[in-house]
Amino acid sequence: MADILVADKINSYYGKSHILFDVSFTVREGETLCLMGRNGAGKSTTFKTLVMDIVPKKGKVYFKGKDITGMKPYKTARLGLGLVPEDRKIFGPLTVKENLILGTAMGKERKGIWNLDLVYEFFPVLKDFQTRPGGTLSGGEQQMLTIARTLMGNPLVLLLDEPTEGLSPVMVKTLKDLVLKLKDVGTTILLSEQNIKFAMAVSDRVAIIDKGHIRYESDIETFKGDDAIKKQYLAV
Ligand SMILES: Nc1ncnc2c1ncn2[C@@H]1O[C@H](COP(=O)(O)OP(=O)(O)O)[C@@H](O)[C@H]1O
Ligand SMILES: [Mg+2]
Repeated sequence: MADILVADKINSYYGKSHILFDVSFTVREGETLCLMGRNGAGKSTTFKTLVMDIVPKKGKVYFKGKDITGMKPYKTARLGLGLVPEDRKIFGPLTVKENLILGTAMGKERKGIWNLDLVYEFFPVLKDFQTRPGGTLSGGEQQMLTIARTLMGNPLVLLLDEPTEGLSPVMVKTLKDLVLKLKDVGTTILLSEQNIKFAMAVSDRVAIIDKGHIRYESDIETFKGDDAIKKQYLAV
């Protein structure tokens, strides 16, 4: 599998606070890599840095072999980095369908499989609610809408920042089935999670971040058997 997204020793700050320390990892085409870590470990900061919402002070991000460090975030989105942020930014007054159509703008420079029909096939609830204002959906449904809208832009890498956070067990199960279906159609996914069970059900590889340092990287089978690592760096 070819490398598609590479973090190369990135160092990110909020003002003077140094948050990420030489964070390096590689996402390969077609895989699901999960970045795991406790609250405040640096997962969201890493995701924001990958799409250049935060520009690292040191280190580089490479996407499809190209150095994208310092690029404007809307350009990284157009190149194919599809971030679904933690805070699920849907447009509340717009209908579900309008929200979805907005997502197509990011994919103008690419061909891909995603269109309204396929989104409605993967997310039946969005088809049922297509004329409702997005703001009237439940939290879990809004999470689905944010993911679906990002897919409408045919991203080359889907970045899901803690997608299970705040979801009911039923919605977590729905999300798990969805991610497994996305894998089936070849989607490259970078996920961040604290939910170990969910991560183990959908990921091919795992990296663990702690206090802004990558502490561990392995294939999912090794991680499953590594209870000491889970105890040391994750809330178990
Ligand atoms: N906007 C911000 N300004 C200052 N510090 C922040 C900001 N956002 C996050 N942090 C700090 O950066 C660290 C990493 O946060 P974050 O990347 O959000 O962690 P995670 O997503 O793993 O929970 C934490 O110590 C957090 O308090
Ligand atoms: Mg976070």
